[in-house]
Amino acid sequence: MNASASVSDQLDQLVARAASEFAGAATPADLENAKARYLGKSGQLTDLMKGLAQLPVEEKKVRGAAINTAKQAIEAALAARRQALQDADLERQLRAEALDVTLPGRQRDAGGLHPIALAWERVEQVFASMGFDVADGPEIESDWFNFTALNNPPNHPARSMQDTFYVDLEDENGLPYCLRTHTSPMQIRYATAHARRHAAALARGEVSEIRVIAPGRTYRVDNDATHSPMFHQVEGLWLGENVSFKDLKATYLGFCKAFFETDDLILRFRPSYFPFTEPSAEIDIQFQSGPLAGKWLEVSGSGQVHPQVVRNMGLDPERFIGFAFGSGIDRLAMLRYGISDLRLFFEGDVRFLSQFA
Ligand code: DAH
Repeated sequence: MNASASVSDQLDQLVARAASEFAGAATPADLENAKARYLGKSGQLTDLMKGLAQLPVEEKKVRGAAINTAKQAIEAALAARRQALQDADLERQLRAEALDVTLPGRQRDAGGLHPIALAWERVEQVFASMGFDVADGPEIESDWFNFTALNNPPNHPARSMQDTFYVDLEDENGLPYCLRTHTSPMQIRYATAHARRHAAALARGEVSEIRVIAPGRTYRVDNDATHSPMFHQVEGLWLGENVSFKDLKATYLGFCKAFFETDDLILRFRPSYFPFTEPSAEIDIQFQSGPLAGKWLEVSGSGQVHPQVVRNMGLDPERFIGFAFGSGIDRLAMLRYGISDLRLFFEGDVRFLSQFA
């Protein structure tokens, strides 16, 4: 093997080593370190170049050319590896940010009102069209509004722990607040505010009528196919100089016809008892046609407002006479939409709910 052949072998080995070190560099920093070992100021190839100085001119030429070729080969390997690392980096970045445009989009289906909300709105619309104001009030209620002012005696079973959810909070009389068991406290709240607002007109003997409904959530310790611990009622109150049972019957019949969208129904009053009305009645309706035809269906409690209750409102029972009623909105919704189990309302099953959307 002559000298120049062995030099070219050496150069070939150097190129091969450099190429393999470059290929093994996993990061750009590794690659730059590897480059320095060959092409840097004291790199192996640079050392060979420096060695040229001592050689005779002819040899210098031959060797110089060979070293240059090797240098080009090393630089080419370096550029290729740089490019490869860059490509891999870009590839990684693209993969991390990948969007699969073939995936189906996330849908937002249009929602709809809950059947109870639909019934509630309908109740408001119908009574508003008959001149009733629409009021609402607190669901955490004091003993006065929920019981006492409504003539509910202290030993009345409605006050018992079995029926009423009590809140761990006492009012100024040391009596516990409760979750209102009915919307009837709104009778007192609304009428009391009315009496205060119109005190001067009342004193002058000017008639100031009260005509209001108060729909809302109510609570009782009860849970089966026809009772839910949270349910909905609508309270009605009409007080004036000369408001009678006849008006109650006309009002309620008018409401039912509008609510159920049929004239084909009749109404009956069944004697009943409520502490805040005297006399008191249950209102039953009967459809004359359709799937529920011929059955008496209980829809509401009602009665003439008890004089003591009118007094508790801050009004004179000699001047203010009238009626109240309290109806179950859930019950009205069940009848209107033909739903047999109250629990369907509260399970949140879209297959049920979407039928009303
Ligand atoms: N508050 C009664 C209940 O929840 C319903 C009721 C009956 C309301 C007669 C009234 C009424 O306004 O006059 O059972």
